[in-house]
Amino acid sequence: MRQLPLFFTVRDRAVLVVGGGEAAARKLRLLLKAGARPVVVAPRVTAEIAALADEGRITWHGRAFREGDVAGVALSYGATGNDAVDRSVADAAQAAGVPVNVVDRADLSDFITPAIVERDPITVAVSSGGAAPVLARTVKAAIERLLPPATGRLALFAERFRGAVKAVVPGERARLRFWDGFFAGPVAAKVLAGDETGAAEDMLGLVNRRAAGPDRGVVHIVGAGPGAADLITLRAQRLLQQADVIVHDRLVTSDVLDLARRDAERINVGKGPGRHTVPQDRINEILIEQGRLGRRVVRLKGGDPFIFGRGGEELQALQAAGIHAEVVPGVTAAIGCAAAVGLPLTHRDVTGAVTFVTGQGSVNGRPVDWESLARSGATLAVYMGVGQAPEIARELARHGMADTPVAVIENGTRPDQRIVTGRVRGLAALMSMHCISGPALIVIGEVAALTQETEYPHSVETFERVAAAG
Ligand SMILES: C[S@@+](CC[C@H](N)C(=O)[O-])C[C@H]1O[C@@H](n2cnc3c(N)ncnc32)[C@H](O)[C@@H]1O
Repeated sequence: MRQLPLFFTVRDRAVLVVGGGEAAARKLRLLLKAGARPVVVAPRVTAEIAALADEGRITWHGRAFREGDVAGVALSYGATGNDAVDRSVADAAQAAGVPVNVVDRADLSDFITPAIVERDPITVAVSSGGAAPVLARTVKAAIERLLPPATGRLALFAERFRGAVKAVVPGERARLRFWDGFFAGPVAAKVLAGDETGAAEDMLGLVNRRAAGPDRGVVHIVGAGPGAADLITLRAQRLLQQADVIVHDRLVTSDVLDLARRDAERINVGKGPGRHTVPQDRINEILIEQGRLGRRVVRLKGGDPFIFGRGGEELQALQAAGIHAEVVPGVTAAIGCAAAVGLPLTHRDVTGAVTFVTGQGSVNGRPVDWESLARSGATLAVYMGVGQAPEIARELARHGMADTPVAVIENGTRPDQRIVTGRVRGLAALMSMHCISGPALIVIGEVAALTQETEYPHSVETFERVAAAG
């Protein structure tokens, strides 16, 4: 960070502005909004500044700057555009220990005026530390679009209830949770929609309910997508910001975990080098325990919780224990990987069906019916198939798919994504030759031949030679 971001209180305090042109006028508009008592020193001023002086909103001394002008002011600005005068303002202010800003001269300034998004009393300041002011303005514009115009009204509404909430919700952490829930919930939505009277009634109900007893915990079973952090849903992102505790798998990337509140507790229940997987029963217990503590729990799972994610078992266990639970979908590996390598899982001219299938060989004791799958003509998206690739290829080849194209996408949507392509008969050789070891998805079907270069970094390696040998 190049500068320390601060918000400075200038209400009812004198602030010196040396200069009477447009640059000075811009500073004055801002200072007046912040309740300062600006003092302008300039022999001549614009009509706007003269009018402000006539209205008594500023003090104007119609003369040249003197060193003594900096005495007793809270802040000072050099806005004359004249290098010698601005420099003398900076020197005098620095000698007197008064922070100074010289317009467009970061080298003479103690502070800068950032790009501002205003939703009074919410103010967002954006600075690039002088590195890229245009980018700072682009960021400001993005924030402008993000914040509804009524954001300020929402802040004032919340301020009205701060005392009442403090009285019924003891403890800072619990209050933080209360307000997190409030700002993301229906009462806040009502304020933003302009119904403050209805929102005030609802808010009283909320406060009274809290007075009757503490919050019950909630567990959100959330899909983290295949890896790229910007593939998670907006709802998942909001919940990660509100969670007290995050229970996550190994497949969840650190980029996604970085979206969580920094002080949230993290429990890793995934397998990793030198670690054993936490058994599913124990994971269910952890979720129930955390829910019973009244905490907001995010159970973060790779891809989508309901696609080979055991999200169904966790939901059932939580419901049986009487813990409120909700599921938030995620982009499953097949969808994420296919998009990342430009591979359409269905295609009007090729196939009209896709099947997500486990490569583990059996489900609940019943073996996967590769014969039916081969006959179906559907694209096969095989999860967890790396170790079983030789058997899968053998089975499919036996049922007429030896020459069907395959694409193996490893670490899909992540910076280390790789894709290798070939034919079913050469699948095992293809995978061992390329040491596919990360999470990988095997796509089998004519569409696998349509893989294209995309904006994602990856290497496409075609092994017709291996296929022919296989
Ligand atoms: C236990 S399953 C979890 C699937 C997850 N619930 C989903 O919807 O994507 C794990 C398998 O998903 C696939 N997988 C998950 N993330 C992947 C990624 N980024 N690239 C390729 N395959 C991935 C691999 O086949 C891996 O063995």
